[in-house]
Amino acid sequence: MKKVKVGLLGLGNIGIGTYKILTQNTEKITGLSNSQIDIEKILVSDIHKKREIAVPKELLTTDAYEIINSPEIDVVVELIGGIDKAYEYIKAALLNGKHVATANKAVIATHGMELMNIAKQNRVLLLFEASVAGGIPIITAMMKPLCGNEFREIIGIVNGTTNYILTQMSENHMEYEVALKQAQEKGFAEADPSSDVEGEDAAYKLCILMLIAFGVYVDPKDIPREGITKISKEDIDFASNFGYKLKLLAGAKNSSGRLKYYVYPTLVAESHPLASVNNEFNALFIKGDAVGELMFYGRGAGSMPTGSAVVGDIVSIAKCIGTDLLNITPAQPYPITDETLELTGESKSMYYINFLVGDEPGALGKVSTAFGNHGISIQSVLQRSKGSNEVPVIYILHETKRKQLDDALADITNNNYVKEITSILRVLS
Ligand SMILES: NC(=O)c1ccc[n+]([C@@H]2O[C@H](COP(=O)([O-])OP(=O)(O)OC[C@H]3O[C@@H](n4cnc5c(N)ncnc54)[C@H](OP(=O)(O)O)[C@@H]3O)[C@@H](O)[C@H]2O)c1
Repeated sequence: MKKVKVGLLGLGNIGIGTYKILTQNTEKITGLSNSQIDIEKILVSDIHKKREIAVPKELLTTDAYEIINSPEIDVVVELIGGIDKAYEYIKAALLNGKHVATANKAVIATHGMELMNIAKQNRVLLLFEASVAGGIPIITAMMKPLCGNEFREIIGIVNGTTNYILTQMSENHMEYEVALKQAQEKGFAEADPSSDVEGEDAAYKLCILMLIAFGVYVDPKDIPREGITKISKEDIDFASNFGYKLKLLAGAKNSSGRLKYYVYPTLVAESHPLASVNNEFNALFIKGDAVGELMFYGRGAGSMPTGSAVVGDIVSIAKCIGTDLLNITPAQPYPITDETLELTGESKSMYYINFLVGDEPGALGKVSTAFGNHGISIQSVLQRSKGSNEVPVIYILHETKRKQLDDALADITNNNYVKEITSILRVLS
């Protein structure tokens, strides 16, 4: 039987999940891959650290190059996280002719194009299924069974931390800070949650999804994004009055060769399948020209679900080693064809606007007229009495360009029709 030797870089959450699956489900994995897959070495930063699993001491090293330069090792699995060291190690491993699997969205979104080219030149595989939506096999699904489709749209709830917070704000009427604290206590949010709550993590994942689905690379920094830090419980309650749930969406849509993409907190109609994705769960809603609509749902993080995706990549690599498949399986997921798509970022959207309006006759009419003057049509309006001189008024607007909306809002605030624009949110149409 073929022997495949693996070097793990990292034995934290995901390293442990990967180690457990490889050692617990060995028979199944051996049979499927027709290979004996052995973990040869594991990189950690502290050999003496107490760990959740018992690992033979002789497997551990603090020298990454003991793995990367080992002639014995066929596959390097990068699970240390971060960008700089991970990039250095993946690149060195590929240049040394090792296949690489990684769960690292930041490094793939930042350096993926270069690394894929190095993998291609060195006739090795670089797989990263676990980098988007943890246990959900979305990358393989788009690259293999769905590869015959032209993708029209991808909309994802790809960040479990923010989805947990928004669900708690909606279901249990918590304020943002309280829900965040609870997420941290339950291990769904890191001590520094900024990358999650500001939408950076989702932008990394969207960058990878666009690469696979549309064959274009958009720098994560160029993806228009907003996080959830300014979302109020009040907006979530008002949205629910209109029949919407608030979700942090990472989306990309190809309409007639124009690719629109964004990461925004967005109102989703309760009838949409994404509206029922709650707490730490992730989901991807996809439209392909042949397959139609599909939704993938599951755990987007965690030791075992993410380890499941990493092991899937290791098995895929093991199956290819020593076969002609390496000559025909492209290391690069898709030919990059930027010229065929116009990258426009976000364009038109439906909007939810929450105004604080003086409780005086005619104010509502003036706001509505101002929207009309700017060519914006109103879908619905809700006025809530607070028992004070100022009342919240919520508008849901039909699709409009952001510039048109900003002009109308400038008009409205300049003419003192409203005391304050409390919030502006997009609505999925
Ligand atoms: N956590 C999730 O649910 C999740 C989900 C999807 C993807 N991911 C991705 O998976 C990767 C790993 O995440 P994680 O949660 O497993 O991280 P983690 O728990 O912090 O584990 C990191 C591991 O790497 C080791 N390490 C870190 N830097 C090192 C260095 N410079 N030299 C040597 N060893 C080093 C650490 O060693 P010590 O143990 O000795 O400290 C630890 O074993 C990240 O890219 C993350 O984005 C995570």
